[in-house]
Amino acid sequence: MLEVELCGIKLRNPTMLASGILGTSGAALKRVALSGGAGAIVTKSIGLTPREGHRNPTVVEINGGLISAIGLANPGYEEFGDEIRVAKEGGVPVIGSVYGFNFGEYAAVAETLQKYGVDAIELNISYPNVGKAGAFFGYSEELSHEVVKEVKKRVSLPVFAKLTAGAGDIVAIAKACEDAGADAITAIGALRAMKIDLITGKPILGNEVGGLSGPCIKPIALRCVYEIAREVDIPVIGCGGITTGEDAVEFFLAGARAVQIGTGVLYRGITIFKKVSQEIKEYLEENGYSSVDEIVGLALR
Ligand SMILES: Cc1cc2nc3c(=O)[nH]c(=O)nc-3n(C[C@H](O)[C@H](O)[C@H](O)COP(=O)(O)O)c2cc1C
Repeated sequence: MLEVELCGIKLRNPTMLASGILGTSGAALKRVALSGGAGAIVTKSIGLTPREGHRNPTVVEINGGLISAIGLANPGYEEFGDEIRVAKEGGVPVIGSVYGFNFGEYAAVAETLQKYGVDAIELNISYPNVGKAGAFFGYSEELSHEVVKEVKKRVSLPVFAKLTAGAGDIVAIAKACEDAGADAITAIGALRAMKIDLITGKPILGNEVGGLSGPCIKPIALRCVYEIAREVDIPVIGCGGITTGEDAVEFFLAGARAVQIGTGVLYRGITIFKKVSQEIKEYLEENGYSSVDEIVGLALR
């Protein structure tokens, strides 16, 4: 009932771990699959060279979510092969998330992650907190198109483009990625935001601004999925503020084939994937449906 297929990849349920949450180590990824019940796991975004990330504090909790600016801290692609090997012991598809500062970096890292055995590549063109990486590409139709095109030349795996609602016209970006050969769209990444400390009178985060995530961005993410799914023929993966089965169902109705969960892990623990899957199943049963596929895009018709 919960099984879905995404670009030829079978998921035992439609919940996936979003990039950047528990995704830096193979052991943590494996635990999300085995104990947490996720249908697939996405790694932390990996780049060409190791990065320490932004200075502390890197995360602040606000009403309805988090603002974080980890700064793409990661060990670099050369060190990541062992982590992928361990993550794969979780027995669910592993999606390698890639960021870069230019097209060549995206392509080189994607090609290496393919060699390490990931099942698909997710291109992070959504991350808003590191200068000319991530969202720098996702704000522009031309640059998004070019990243996808260059990566598709070098890998045979399915390629997901992860977009940002910070782009002026996210639907145009999604279409540019589809034209360039993207196999799926993930929408959305964290949104640029900030918080100021009333005692010091200064921004709280070391990086001053960060990415807003959690329930407070859900209505924006849902709107993006709805608008994108109406215009593209490739699958859309919903992401942003999903913490319950009801949230996930809203995304399916808006046209998503699967959902990613990040900040929700903070609220409901690592087993949130099991809990959300069970809640989706209850919704389907109570409403007379026999599969997730049956409700995908119903709000669009
Ligand atoms: C602490 C933290 C780190 C993140 N790191 C990444 C990352 O490395 N790559 C990426 O594509 N997205 C990253 N994200 C964004 C999430 O994958 C997700 O798109 C966003 O948080 C919205 O989903 P959520 O509300 O379920 O958290 C990060 C988010 C958080 C909270």
